[in-house]
Amino acid sequence: MKVAFFKHGLNSNDAQAMADVLATPFLTSGPVGKKVEAQLESFFDVRHALLNNSWTNGAIATLLALDIGKDDEVIVPAMTFIATANIAELLGAKPIIVDVDPDTQLMRASDVEKAISPKTRAIIPVHLYGQMCDIKAIRNTFGNRTDIAIIEDCAHAFESELNGDKPGTHSDAAIFSFYATKNIACGEGGAIITNNSELFEKLKQTRLHGMSAGAAERFKTGSYNHWDMERLGVKANLPDLLAALLPKQIEYVYEQLARRAILADRYRNGFANLPIKMIKKVSNALDALHLFPIGVDAKIRDDVLLQLAKANIGATVNYRAIHTLSYYRNKYNFKTSDFPNANSWGQSAISLPLYPSLTFAEQDYVIDSVKQILNSKLEKIAS
Ligand SMILES: Cc1ncc(COP(=O)(O)O)c(C=O)c1O
Repeated sequence: MKVAFFKHGLNSNDAQAMADVLATPFLTSGPVGKKVEAQLESFFDVRHALLNNSWTNGAIATLLALDIGKDDEVIVPAMTFIATANIAELLGAKPIIVDVDPDTQLMRASDVEKAISPKTRAIIPVHLYGQMCDIKAIRNTFGNRTDIAIIEDCAHAFESELNGDKPGTHSDAAIFSFYATKNIACGEGGAIITNNSELFEKLKQTRLHGMSAGAAERFKTGSYNHWDMERLGVKANLPDLLAALLPKQIEYVYEQLARRAILADRYRNGFANLPIKMIKKVSNALDALHLFPIGVDAKIRDDVLLQLAKANIGATVNYRAIHTLSYYRNKYNFKTSDFPNANSWGQSAISLPLYPSLTFAEQDYVIDSVKQILNSKLEKIAS
């Protein structure tokens, strides 16, 4: 049997939605994207949503809108995808890395509190794998300072909730990814949501070179309208061709999540009583279950990955701790043992296939294979 790490759920109905856009004169950001933005505003119950061509570019546009750059500090967790730290680095700001909770791998307010300095301008909590960090507690770490923004990294967390609150409720902005393997995917894409209207006005510019009007607005009155450039921006807008793939996925997101929940429970039951670490469930939370990582003995992790590949099972690592990667390690002189919780999880984590179309037969094959591989490795270590 062959089990892919990920299969998207797009089909010929989605092809039709793209064909509908092709039949209009407007391929870039236009009426379809506007509709999706309204759909997101109502889904998250927020004032503003803006579509982007990736999480990364949306996040760069957000830092630019907040005037974050040289000499500023941005607090990020050690256990995340590199993009979270790279966006600060790219703008000349310094990512201040903090360790994570050893059981959930989420950023903790107690670590953030220790990292805050007069130079802190943003904190980027990452709702890793689909469980949310406690944004209210993180906000409490800096009292009434108004020069620090909280930007939620929601790349894994579209459906997530904590204590009944969705992303965007307690932060300045929350940013999503619609990258090819995300719970909602259009190949490359993302969105920013915010309740801050002043930030939103700036974001409309920083996501489009800093221009005061996008293509649709420039021709709104029938003749050409001049635009101005008041601030520096990036090119982060999403074309309608890709936005067309989003509305149906957003509409059916909870049906898809229900299937992910069944599969995640089957993994948890299948691996109970084995020397496998699983992510602790956060109480009072709705988990978007974006990934299903397991932790195995670090000494055998890479070999388990190899054996899974030999068994035709797609598996990846999300993630090795960012301070252990060459760029950050060399630039900031990190030791591997810095941020020990993220480091130890990063050496033992393996992500297994988890997507709505994964069949029980495929999943049973994955569970049995993991058990077999682990037993044979551990027997070898014991003998
Ligand atoms: C936690 C996290 N943050 C940010 C990103 C970057 O998203 P994008 O590829 O849309 O820029 C990803 C993508 O994998 C991610 O997993």
